Amino acid sequence: MSQESVIDARGLRYRYEDGTLALDGVDFQLGPGETVALLGPNGSGKTTFVLMLNGLLAGEGEIRVCGMRLERSSQTAIRRKIGMVFQDSDEQLFMPTVLEDVAFGLLNQGAGREPALEAAMGALEQVGMRDAGRKAPYHLSAGEKRRVALAGVLVMNPEILILDEPTTYLDPPGQRELIHLLKGLPQAKILVTHDSCFASALAQRAVFFVKGRLAGEGSVDEIVRRFSWDGRE
Ligand SMILES: Nc1ncnc2c1ncn2[C@@H]1O[C@H](COP(=O)(O)OP(=O)(O)OP(=O)(O)O)[C@@H](O)[C@H]1O
Ligand SMILES: [Mg+2]
Repeated sequence: MSQESVIDARGLRYRYEDGTLALDGVDFQLGPGETVALLGPNGSGKTTFVLMLNGLLAGEGEIRVCGMRLERSSQTAIRRKIGMVFQDSDEQLFMPTVLEDVAFGLLNQGAGREPALEAAMGALEQVGMRDAGRKAPYHLSAGEKRRVALAGVLVMNPEILILDEPTTYLDPPGQRELIHLLKGLPQAKILVTHDSCFASALAQRAVFFVKGRLAGEGSVDEIVRRFSWDGRE
């Protein structure tokens, strides 16, 4: 098993309770500082895969994150290494104000209130949401929620960023700002996206999911040329 990978996943399989086999033998490595795009049709297993990586879903296979084997005892440490923005940001926002929401992770780790709120302000500024700190998260627009969820992840300064459909709901300037922001961040990144322009602006490598398996790997342009979006080569 490679020492160099920040994520090393072998033989991942996951079956939902209703019998759906969502992942059917996925091997995947992410190098330090590398950005990889996960592409593939709806329902091909991308979200299931990233939820397995931080232990939110437990199936078959072996996962190592920054050299640590994912198991019950390492789950908290691994979740600190991985900052994840979920496909549905509503699941991530639950505090009375946006600022407290963004500061939540730091406060939860025992940071002082003042420094945590200051760091949260900085993260809101990074995502262009400086003026929204006092608003209630549930009053935000869909695109604003995406930005705030990202701020809540950035403020923790994780070693790996996993963003599931980060451009959904973002307007074109918001998408350009996100590309610019992510380009400036040193972390290794997994970007789950249907947006091939976004993927090719950021990712050195792409993998294409079809029916719970990795059907191909290459540059974003190669993968987009090779696969049609119905998953056929
Ligand atoms: N909670 C669940 N119970 C049963 N089946 C599920 C559940 N969640 C997802 N699935 C199924 O697992 C498969 C993979 O879903 P997943 O959400 O991982 O796909 P995806 O590649 O992220 O799709 P999308 O591009 O639409 O986000 C699909 O067939 C989906 O219907
Ligand atoms: Mg998904």
